[in-house]
Amino acid sequence: MAETLLLNKESSVAEQYQLLVKQIKSLLDKSDNLLSNLSNFTAALKQTFEKISWVGFYLYDGKELFLGPFQGKVACTKIKIGNGVCGTSAEKRITLIVSDVDKFPGHIACDVDSKSEIVIPIIKDNELYGVLDLDSTSLNAFSQTDQKYLEELVDFLVKEILI
Ligand code: SME
Repeated sequence: MAETLLLNKESSVAEQYQLLVKQIKSLLDKSDNLLSNLSNFTAALKQTFEKISWVGFYLYDGKELFLGPFQGKVACTKIKIGNGVCGTSAEKRITLIVSDVDKFPGHIACDVDSKSEIVIPIIKDNELYGVLDLDSTSLNAFSQTDQKYLEELVDFLVKEILI
């Protein structure tokens, strides 16, 4: 297929996610290399939402989180479990929505312009696989609508793509 993404910037956030979910499900293919799939996953999200300044994976190597495929500015390469928003999400295995990163104790400022963030843990077979991290340069950029669809996308990755 031609790797193009249909966008409808006029529709609601939920409708944009619904279109994105369909397209990611057809774009990603289990037979492709995992890095290719994770890279296109981040690119599709970044292309769809202008509010996203950074989107990427931090993957777990059994000890700490390391930087995986991403879109955005260069970022820190390692995060300890329990540190920052990513390490806290990984430790507690919960999605964290941070509407103002300056108010999150221990937030790791990879990009000084980042104002809000959402992190979704990736758990496969009850084991930590990593996290999906999205940043915005706007305050309060992520809502429960983002959480719902990002969790759906991570669930698709876990069930269909991660091996
Ligand atoms: N802010 C994150 C670090 C990763 S960057 O945002 C890309 C955190 O506090 O875990």
